[in-house]
Parts: sequence; C-alpha cells; structure tokens
Amino acid sequence: MDKLRIEGGTPLHGEVRISGAKNAALPLLCAGLLTAEPLTLRNVPRLNDVATMRSLLAQMGVVVEVSGDRVALGAARIDWPLAPYELVKTMRASILALGPLLARCGEARVSLPGGCAIGLRPVDQHVKGLTAMGAEIDLEHGYINAKGRLTGTKFVFDMVTVTGTENLLMAATLARGTTVLENAAREPEIVDLARCLTAMGARITGAGTDRISIEGVPELHGAAHSIMPDRIETGTYLVAIAASGGKATVRGADVTSLDSVLTKLAEAGATVAIDGDAIVVARQGALRGVSVRTAPHPGFPTDMQAQFMALAARAEGTAVITETIFENRMMHVQELVRLGADIEVEGGTALVRGVAKLTGAHVMATDLRASACLVIAGLVAEGETVIDRIYHLDRGYERMEEKLSGLSARVTRVR
Ligand code: UD1
Repeated sequence: MDKLRIEGGTPLHGEVRISGAKNAALPLLCAGLLTAEPLTLRNVPRLNDVATMRSLLAQMGVVVEVSGDRVALGAARIDWPLAPYELVKTMRASILALGPLLARCGEARVSLPGGCAIGLRPVDQHVKGLTAMGAEIDLEHGYINAKGRLTGTKFVFDMVTVTGTENLLMAATLARGTTVLENAAREPEIVDLARCLTAMGARITGAGTDRISIEGVPELHGAAHSIMPDRIETGTYLVAIAASGGKATVRGADVTSLDSVLTKLAEAGATVAIDGDAIVVARQGALRGVSVRTAPHPGFPTDMQAQFMALAARAEGTAVITETIFENRMMHVQELVRLGADIEVEGGTALVRGVAKLTGAHVMATDLRASACLVIAGLVAEGETVIDRIYHLDRGYERMEEKLSGLSARVTRVR
C-alpha cells in the first residue's frame, strides 16, 4: 500500500491547476446509460473512483474509450443492467446507475452499498422516489431489484440527498409525463448534470433550486460535455496554502461554487483575490481558527469539514466544528491528535483549541477527506509526517503529490 511522506514547515508558493469534479463525473458517467448514442465527457479527472465507475459501465456492456481527460461512452446496447456487489462495495456512488438503468432498460439490479466508514448512508430515498414513479422494487440477497416503466410524479425528499436527487433526475428524463422533485439538493454538481442532460435532449427546469421539474421525453441523444472544476479539490488547496502561510494561485476554479469556503478562509485571516477562474490566496498575518457547521449547499460543505479542522488545529483561538450531515465523520480527530492537536469531540461537534505547533508523526488515512486533512496538517507540522493508506486519497485527488510539489511542498509517494 502506498504512503505519502511529507516534510512539513514550508510555506506553499506557485500555482496549481484544478481537475474536473469527481462528484460531477460519477453521475455524468451514469448519464451515458440513458442514450443509445455516444456521450463524450471532457475534463474527466483521473481518479480511482472514476476508473471504478468506468469498469461498472463496461461490465454492463457499455463501450468505454478513454483518451487523456476525455471519456467516450457508447451504450447502444446494455447487456447486463447490473451493478454487482464487488464494485458497489468499493464505491457507494455506484447506486447512481440505478435510475438510468431502470429508465432505459425497464429493469435494474444494483447491490445495496452497505456500511460506509463515515456513517450509515442509507439509500431509502432513491428507492422511495423510484417507487413513487411506478417502479416495482424488492430487496433480496443484498440487491435492489427494480423493474417497470416510470411515470412522472411529484416526490418530496425526506432529507436533502445529493446522489438521491441525481438518481431521480436522471430517471425522470425518460419517464412518461412530468416529474417534480421537491426538497431537492442544490449542489453545483446537480446543475452540471442537468446541463449535460439538457444537451442530450432532456427537458429540465429548476436545477440548482430545491424544486426541479422534469418533463420526460421518449429518448435522449448523444452530446459532448465538459465537466465542471472540482470545488472540493479547489477548497483543499486553498486551505493548504492559507494554513502553510504561503501565497499561491489556484487556476481553473469555479469561483461561483465556493462562496461559503471563501468566506471562512477570509475569516481565518487569508486574503483571497479572484481573477476569472484563478484564485490567489495568501496569508501573512495570524491564522485564526474558524467555527464551521456543515449543511447542504449553499451551506458549508461536509466535504471541507476535515480540512478546516486541520487549519484550526494550528491556528490561534478555539474553533467549534459541527458535522450535521454524516454521523461518523470525525475519524481524522484521533490522527490530528497524534500530530499534537488539542481537540475534544462530543457527538458531532469538535472543540479545536489551536496549538502553537504540530509535530510530524506516522498517521493513518481513514476516508477520502480525512486524508486531505492529514496532508494539510502534515504540511504545517514540524518534521516528517508519513500518511498510511493513501488509496483513500487516490479515490478523489488527481496526482496530489505532483500538484503539491508544484507548490514547492516536500512531498513524496512511497510505493
Ligand atoms: C454526496 C457526495 C459526498 C458528499 C455528500 C454530502 C457524491 C458522489 N458524493 O454523497 O461527497 O459528502 O453528498 O454533500 O456526490 N440519506 C438518507 N437516505 C438516502 C440518502 C441519503 O438517509 O436515501 C442521508 C445520508 O445518510 C446522509 C445525508 O442523507 O446523512 C446526505 O447524504 P447524501 O447527500 O445522499 O450523500 P451522497 O449523495 O452519498
């Protein structure tokens, strides 16, 4: 298993370019199932999760061609509308195949994702929504078996779910009649998905609001779509630069999707200047720990919680960090403590008392964003930090050690 070795204490300088968004790429790859014509995606990030999704599509009979950051999908035929346990267990987002498969083939068999390190993460809303649209669904031997023709309906989500909204949105494009999704997620990745589906001939209004209306069409056609920049990757580098006390430019960002993160960075004492798709972030003065409370978009993203905790750990003052989306997303705390952080956790709330210095240690990554948090902490810690199990990092950050080296960090991958 690969490890990351970081020699901390160097302020970051230079430039970094942001890749396409993982959380937009995964549903967009599944959108390829909705049409018999080719769908070409550009700016596809080279990540393990994307490779897993490509394998999932390929084993269904989809022709997948990769060339650089371009992925061409040909789903003229879908031989096996099936997402097996072996692939779903490694990536929960495989559930995104359910809606498109059912809408296109009239049947689907998708493994239940099962447990997940950061919490229970059930898929009941996906199932309830498709059932409301007329699907017959039973759960058997750990699989969701779904069949039937979908009909538009009004569905109100019990809670805000990102992939739940995406699954029903995709399914509704080919349903008979109009579907209205209420209490829908408003994440920018949903807007990106709707943009691509619209280019494929879907009729969608309201994406980016909590009420999305979809008028079903008999079939969709091929299209080409460029995936939006990854706002979490962007936020991660911004925090790393600010925490290190450096000054650097993050290029190719989607600034409009980052309001809550940029506000918190300024509160932490960083200066942020925006020029088109470039963000110049610098921090010379004191670093202040800022309190954050995660919430669905446009609130503060749960996927940035761990990175802000790393920042608060080495800052002045005390920060209260509250996780409201996932019930077990504080696993990075015990690793931060190994680096010298002073953090107390009660339920979903962490009290982070900033310390004057962190010191390098051997730590273990427990999930994707926890890994990013440890990288940031390692960059500001004195001495050497070795992070184990960075396969978590490779699921969601493209060539992170190369990008960090471009920012003059001393980071190496140990194979
Ligand atoms: C997506 C993102 C993930 C991010 C999360 C929250 C992708 C591929 N992943 O995950 O990076 O951290 O949004 O912004 O886009 N829930 C239910 N029943 C359901 C669905 C969800 O109870 O049917 C609960 C979950 O347990 C969780 C909350 O709703 O507590 C939000 O989960 P959800 O938005 O669905 O997360 P994902 O879409 O899996």
